Amino acid sequence: MSKIMKIFFSPSQTTKQVVEQVASNFKKESETYDLLNFNSKKEFSKEDIAIVGMPIFAGRLPKSGRDRLAKFKGNDTKAIAIANYGNAQVKDALLELVELLKENGFDVIAAATTVSHHSIFDGVAVGRPDSEDIKKINEFAEKCIEKIESGESLTSEIPGNSQYIPYKQLPFIISCDDAICSFCYDCVSICPEQAIPDDDPVNTDLDLCSRCTACINICPEDARKFSGEAFETKKPAFEQANSERREPEFYL
Ligand SMILES: Cc1cc2nc3c(=O)[nH]c(=O)nc-3n(C[C@H](O)[C@H](O)[C@H](O)COP(=O)(O)O)c2cc1C
Ligand code: SF4
Ligand code: SF4
Repeated sequence: MSKIMKIFFSPSQTTKQVVEQVASNFKKESETYDLLNFNSKKEFSKEDIAIVGMPIFAGRLPKSGRDRLAKFKGNDTKAIAIANYGNAQVKDALLELVELLKENGFDVIAAATTVSHHSIFDGVAVGRPDSEDIKKINEFAEKCIEKIESGESLTSEIPGNSQYIPYKQLPFIISCDDAICSFCYDCVSICPEQAIPDDDPVNTDLDLCSRCTACINICPEDARKFSGEAFETKKPAFEQANSERREPEFYL
């Protein structure tokens, strides 16, 4: 009996939402591997079907998410690769995801770029994935099911350049309002870079921080946010430049 393996790195939860949506179409038993919480080796069988979602960070896979995913090995395991982005740029990220999965023993049968609410610039792609996206994602999932049943491989070319663009550290500050922090330490536990000191969660080591947004998303008090002059200056121009709706793309 094949099982669905839902695998994602999803600091602000939209990539998780897309993976869950694709998985729901299979109507099969599933296991979940949330790479923010799971950082161990794992091997999958030929019968498993992996649905793997990663967000796009500056045109690449997030480095921590990539490193964690690289610990997963397939045994000719069928996989669907999804790079989820904030309506700005895809660059090499989907190709990077497909190539990483193939190198690690997965048989990638389909891939997609999907559009979700921008996790830094909150005026971009508001409310996405929306009902139009969900409809397209469901149609894609149905085609994936047909492909798996008929044993077909991936034939579409995946866009991107195998000489991936270099990682880029964003200059924005993540700040925490110590007047409203309740010292629950959830942000300390979730941070994939150990950038928040466990004896002082209102601080952030910005040299370690990847600006992934997991701490902002998990904070029950809304105490953490992007701030600073670089962020405030960039925000309106970025939101204007990326206001035109981009659509998900599917590769089968
Ligand atoms: C550090 C960082 C870099 C990002 N870079 C891009 C990018 O290059 N292109 C883009 O369209 N969106 C970019 N985004 C937006 C995310 O890809 C998008 O919001 C995605 O939905 C986040 O997934 P999540 O909700 O699973 O965290 C970036 C977000 C972060 C936090
Ligand atoms: S401190 Fe930085 S790396 Fe850590 S969870 Fe927050 S945004 Fe992500
Ligand atoms: S998650 Fe929020 S409330 Fe909890 S320690 Fe971190 S900043 Fe404070």
